[in-house]
Amino acid sequence: STNKTFTMIKPDAVLDGNSGSIIKMIEAAGFRVVALKKTKLTPERAGEFYAVHKERPFYNDLCAYMSSGPIVPMILEKENAVADFRTLIGATNPANADEGTIRKLFAKSIEANAIHGSDSDENAQIEGNFFFAHTEQF
Ligand code: CMP
Repeated sequence: STNKTFTMIKPDAVLDGNSGSIIKMIEAAGFRVVALKKTKLTPERAGEFYAVHKERPFYNDLCAYMSSGPIVPMILEKENAVADFRTLIGATNPANADEGTIRKLFAKSIEANAIHGSDSDENAQIEGNFFFAHTEQF
């Protein structure tokens, strides 16, 4: 059975011109793009997206960073999507990311780490619906 995950290419990677290379890796790994756009978050909307982290010391910096430039959110479909996508992107801290992962190749720091990947099927659905209407998901 196929299922879905949510991702967004973060401002560092978009501004560096790495969106195309990252999408190419995602498709080559067998993910189907269900929805995709380029957009920009306000600090308030970034705060809403990352509300689960609001007690963390890095929350304010994270919201400022994630609203500092354009992002490319996507909904992806594949068997075992959430777990396989987290393998493809690598560890949150690029210093710990495996060779060949998207974060090893493109991330700059634990904050500017190139790409997001949902951590559960439930969050994948919530996060995908945060950015895309049902009429934008194919
Ligand atoms: P992500 O897992 O996509 O969503 C939460 C983000 O918070 C994470 O990526 C990083 O960008 C950021 N983050 C997580 N841990 C830290 C940290 N210790 N310091 C700064 N930013 C962090």
